[in-house]
Amino acid sequence: MMRQWVLASRPDGLARTSDFAMQESPIPTPDKGQVLLKTQYLGVAPVMLRYMNNGTFFERPLEIGDVMHGRGVGIVVASRNSSFKEGDIVQCKLGWREYALIDDDSYYMPFVMKQTDLPWSYGVSALAMSGFTALLGLRDICNLKKGERVLVSGAAGGVGSQVAFIAKSLGCEQVVGIAGGKKKCHLLTDRLAYDDSIDYKGEDFERQLNSAMPDGINVFFDNVGGEMLDTVIGHVLRRGRIAICGRISEYLKAPDECHRPRNFYLIGLNDLKLEGFFIYNFQERFRDYESTLAHWIRSGEFHPLEDIMHGLEKMPDALIGLYEGTNCGVRVVQIDPDAR
Ligand SMILES: NC(=O)c1ccc[n+]([C@@H]2O[C@H](COP(=O)([O-])OP(=O)(O)OC[C@H]3O[C@@H](n4cnc5c(N)ncnc54)[C@H](OP(=O)(O)O)[C@@H]3O)[C@@H](O)[C@H]2O)c1
Repeated sequence: MMRQWVLASRPDGLARTSDFAMQESPIPTPDKGQVLLKTQYLGVAPVMLRYMNNGTFFERPLEIGDVMHGRGVGIVVASRNSSFKEGDIVQCKLGWREYALIDDDSYYMPFVMKQTDLPWSYGVSALAMSGFTALLGLRDICNLKKGERVLVSGAAGGVGSQVAFIAKSLGCEQVVGIAGGKKKCHLLTDRLAYDDSIDYKGEDFERQLNSAMPDGINVFFDNVGGEMLDTVIGHVLRRGRIAICGRISEYLKAPDECHRPRNFYLIGLNDLKLEGFFIYNFQERFRDYESTLAHWIRSGEFHPLEDIMHGLEKMPDALIGLYEGTNCGVRVVQIDPDAR
C-alpha cells in the first residue's frame, strides 16, 4: 500500500490542514507505455493553493477527493516505456503521493535528471523549476548586463534565494534582496550572495531602499507584486527591466482587493520594460538551464539553499508555511527516507 494526499475541501483564503486528507491505496502496476516512479522528494510552491480552487489555466481541474497536484523527483522502479529505464531519476508532475504512474502524456512534463552526482533534491530546487525560473527571469527576460544593479523581492524564498548567485555569476555590480524580518535579512548577506538587504516588515521601506541602492535599480526581479512592486517602479532607472515572476502578496486576495498601482505611468516615462513569464512555456531551454546551473554549483559559485522537511505527512504544513514565511530557501519535502 502507499499513502497520498487528496483535496478534502476548497480553502477560503489560506488553506488549513483540514482541507487535505491522507488516503491509502494499492501501489499501481504499470501497463504498456507506463512507468512506475517511487517518489524521492516533492516540491512545494505557492501556486498549489490556487490549484485547490482551480485558480490557474495551466493545471488540470482538481475535484474533491483528487490527489493534490505537484512536481517531484522519482526513481523509476518499473518501466514499460522505452523512454525510461529502471533507476532513472525523473522530475515530473508526480502528485502528492509515494508512488506514481506516468506515461507519454506531455501533461507530466518529465525531465530525466542528468546531474545525478548532485543531490537528487536539486531535481525540485536548483536544477528544476525554481532554479530555471531564476535563470530565465534574470538572464533571458531581463537581459542582465555586467555591472548592473539588481533588486529582488521574496529574496529568501525558493526562487529569490537563487537569484543573487546567478546575478553574481552573470557579473552584476550589486544585488540587494527584500525579505521579511531581521533573521532572513542576515541570511541574505551571510549565506545567499546578496550585498545588502531590505526588511519590508521593518520601518520605512522606501528609506531603506534609497539607502541600499542610492544609484538606482537596473533590474527588479519581483516575486511579491502589489504595493511593493508599485513602490519599486518609482526607483528603477531609465531603460530598466522588471521581471514579473510572481505576486505572492496578492494570491489570497479577491481581484477587487488587489493593490491599484499608482506608479505605472513611469513605465512609459522611463522607457521601462515590465514582462511576465511562465517557466512551463520555456521547456526547450530546460536542458541548457540544468547544465548552466550545475556548472555554477560545481564551480562553487552557486550554493543552493534548501529548506528540507521530512515525510509525506508534512506536505500541508509545508505549503501553508510558504504564506507564513516559515521557509528559508527552496522548500522541499523528502518522501523516501533513503533518497540521496
Ligand atoms: N513565473 C514563473 O514561472 C514562476 C515559477 C515559480 C514560482 N513563481 C512565483 O515566484 C514566487 C516565488 O516562488 P517560490 O516557490 O520560490 O516561493 P517562496 O518565495 O519560497 O514563497 C514563500 C515566501 O514568500 C514570502 N511571502 C509570503 N507572503 C508574502 C507577502 N504577503 N508579502 C511578501 N512576501 C511574502 C515569504 O518570505 P518573507 O518571510 O520574506 O515574507 C515566504 O517565505 C511566487 O510568487 C511564485 O508564484 C513563478
